[in-house]
Amino acid sequence: MNITIIGTGYVGLVTGACLAELGNHVVCLDIDQFKIKLLNSGAIPIHEPGLEEVVARNRDAGRLHFSTDVVASVAHGELQFIAVGTPPNEDGSADLQYVLAAARNIGRHMVGFKVIVDKSTVPVGTADRVKACVQAELDARGERAAFSVVSNPEFLKEGAAVEDFMRPDRIVIGCDATPEGERARNLMRKLYSPFNRNHERTFWMDVRSAEFTKYAANAMLATRISFMNELANLADQVGADIEAVRYGIGSDPRIGHSFLYAGAGYGGSCFPKDVQALERTAREYDQELLILRAVEQVNHKQKLVLGLKIAKRFGHDLRGKHFAVWGLAFKPNTDDMREAPARVLIKQLLDDGASVAVYDPVAMKEARRVLALDLSAGDMARVRFAVSPMDALTDAEALVIVTEWKAFRSPDFERIKLALKQAIVFDGRNLFRPDLMAEAGFEYHGIGRSILTRV
Ligand code: UDX
Repeated sequence: MNITIIGTGYVGLVTGACLAELGNHVVCLDIDQFKIKLLNSGAIPIHEPGLEEVVARNRDAGRLHFSTDVVASVAHGELQFIAVGTPPNEDGSADLQYVLAAARNIGRHMVGFKVIVDKSTVPVGTADRVKACVQAELDARGERAAFSVVSNPEFLKEGAAVEDFMRPDRIVIGCDATPEGERARNLMRKLYSPFNRNHERTFWMDVRSAEFTKYAANAMLATRISFMNELANLADQVGADIEAVRYGIGSDPRIGHSFLYAGAGYGGSCFPKDVQALERTAREYDQELLILRAVEQVNHKQKLVLGLKIAKRFGHDLRGKHFAVWGLAFKPNTDDMREAPARVLIKQLLDDGASVAVYDPVAMKEARRVLALDLSAGDMARVRFAVSPMDALTDAEALVIVTEWKAFRSPDFERIKLALKQAIVFDGRNLFRPDLMAEAGFEYHGIGRSILTRV
């Protein structure tokens, strides 16, 4: 099938490359000439495992093209995916200007039937606004072409996006109950048929329910995390181990094991933004989502927990003290630092007068960029960008782990002990067993595990 993807960000690029991998002819359109040039030169603007190979393979096979030519790109696809950004407005609502601009471009240039697929995460009701924009452009030029707007939200995890796309656990598609909607449904069924051969993975529904499903999924996952984080903080007080509790409750199939890890808080481009946007939508209908408000507040507090544990141990005046920080990206296998807990921790330590040496396996460049935005020049001078995990430890009072990269999971503890001034570890992701850490001679501070780590 011929497909156009509007927006070559993380979602658009993964979607375009993977749809080409399935044998479709894909054109990825972006207004950013620099990005398109970069993609055409064989480079990938983001760190996403496996993506570079899929892009290269399909570009070489002539199935994947990158373009800034709006007219030719809109003409190409019978399916037009809108995969542009929906950044938060100041009030937490999603900014739809890029989505609606894409819709207007389609309306301005389309000829013949088109299916317009909303891939971007957009508030309930956006498909209707997209439809109105397209129709207005068609009317303005007296064009009578038919079209249908479909909602097909993505459930891609950064760091596993190619795998998530190629092996989906579900495909959610919302179509209108109209003749155009039926036509769109048939094309979408054909597009996703490779994933449904042995097992039907598509959930068909109306457009608004599909739009809602995306927010509901992310809000539910964020809720689980904040709930566990709140319990972990109580576990610290009452002397229980949150990891034991996690196993204990996760084995109930009604609860399940995933997304129950207490830690330094959730970050990234989706959870914080989507939770806020859903709350905002509710407010538009005079409803308050009390649970989600709490989820957000708990997460905000949780990003401060590591810093507070450090302050409890070393005091609030950290002048002259130096700390090593491992893990800067908001989670492993990505260089994304949007809403990353490490940013909050570093700011806290610097505000209390400390200096830090930071290390991340892939996010060092991004860290330099975002920390320069977060911090004053004076504070930035107290950040050293280490060249390896061990390099970061030199002269540090303690090691603080914020992201659970695989490379941090089985380090050489003897070398760590030798490099640090004191054998103290603050572990924001509960990577190690407190009893083994104690045996190895460490003072170990996890999240929600104080029964085993009391100093
Ligand atoms: C998320 C959704 O999982 C994905 O389906 C959606 O399309 C986009 O948003 P992503 O933001 O890439 O994906 O990361 P995810 O793996 O879900 O983790 C989000 C955050 O939650 C990370 O900061 C992670 O560290 C944190 N987390 C996750 C926890 O603190 N505890 C957990 O148990 C799981």
